[in-house]
Amino acid sequence: MHLGRTYSAGDNTTLDLLSFLKERNEYVSGQEVADAMGISRNAVWKQIERLRKEGIEIEAVTGKGYRIVDESDAFGERSIKSVLHTSWLGQELLFFNEIDSTNDELKRRADKGAKEGLVAVADIQTKGKGRRGRSWTTPAGVNIAMSYLLRPELPPDIAPMMTLIMAMAAAKGIKEISSLETRIKWPNDIVINGKKLVGILTEMTAEPDFIHEVIVGTGINVNTESFPEEISDTATSMRIEGGRTYSRSKTVAAVTEAFESYYEIFLQTGDLRGLKDEYNVLCANVGAEVRVLDPKGEYEGLAQGIDDKGELIVRKDDGTEERVYAGEVSVRGIYGYV
Ligand code: BTN
Repeated sequence: MHLGRTYSAGDNTTLDLLSFLKERNEYVSGQEVADAMGISRNAVWKQIERLRKEGIEIEAVTGKGYRIVDESDAFGERSIKSVLHTSWLGQELLFFNEIDSTNDELKRRADKGAKEGLVAVADIQTKGKGRRGRSWTTPAGVNIAMSYLLRPELPPDIAPMMTLIMAMAAAKGIKEISSLETRIKWPNDIVINGKKLVGILTEMTAEPDFIHEVIVGTGINVNTESFPEEISDTATSMRIEGGRTYSRSKTVAAVTEAFESYYEIFLQTGDLRGLKDEYNVLCANVGAEVRVLDPKGEYEGLAQGIDDKGELIVRKDDGTEERVYAGEVSVRGIYGYV
């Protein structure tokens, strides 16, 4: 098949060959490439070798021909590890094509003594869990479901801080991969244009003064093209916002690298004093009117930002300040979702 384009054998041959193979996106025989480009089969082979030397992966299969391997779609242990630059988080990484829930899988592994830093990533979750007993959908081939196993030697009341650190890491990693400027809806939803892009579920097993493990699970909507009508007003994806698809492997790596470095800053003090200024810049609630759904009585006020413990400081109309503990109460924006 000819694409209707003319390929010359001049200086641009290598680039022409690259775009020809990308456009075809299937195996093309050497003869067909040679005919389409008006060059010899030997010249085709030389150009293929040149592209390979430049790091472009091209498969050559006898009887079928050449095909570009689209690395941006690869999502598995190898593709993640090849771009992950951490010192401990994810050095042991489990990848599942399908799992009930990455949080549940890490809990099972933790019960058998798995070490801090273990990461589970899945393409599909069949029983993905959201917060407040809700479910979380991770359909095939588009998004990221991943969980981290942490064993901080700190009192259990630090658990909500893990969620805030995860939110910062997700915002940073997503920006690095896509340039998308997301904000955090305290404590831990990542939002963009008023819609949710990332959900985080932190689960802990602890004694009153001792943490067995904290599992931080994150669902990132990466390449979802559209959402069901019931949630299309509140949910979005990197693809919808950025207008293109993104590598899930690179996104996992960027978010995980960010988490590792934020978590190490957290460990220096055992609280968020080293991170709160950066968090507050990202926090969409800062400076906004919020309604605090406190079971002891709802109230409204102006959100000021988080303190060292990750509590949201809310100034009420009478000038007094309340500190809202993440995980206990909900905060709603008065003018919309955030
Ligand atoms: C939310 O309700 O916003 C939290 C959603 C958390 C979903 C993630 S996906 C990876 C991990 N495994 C789960 O079962 N849930 C979390």
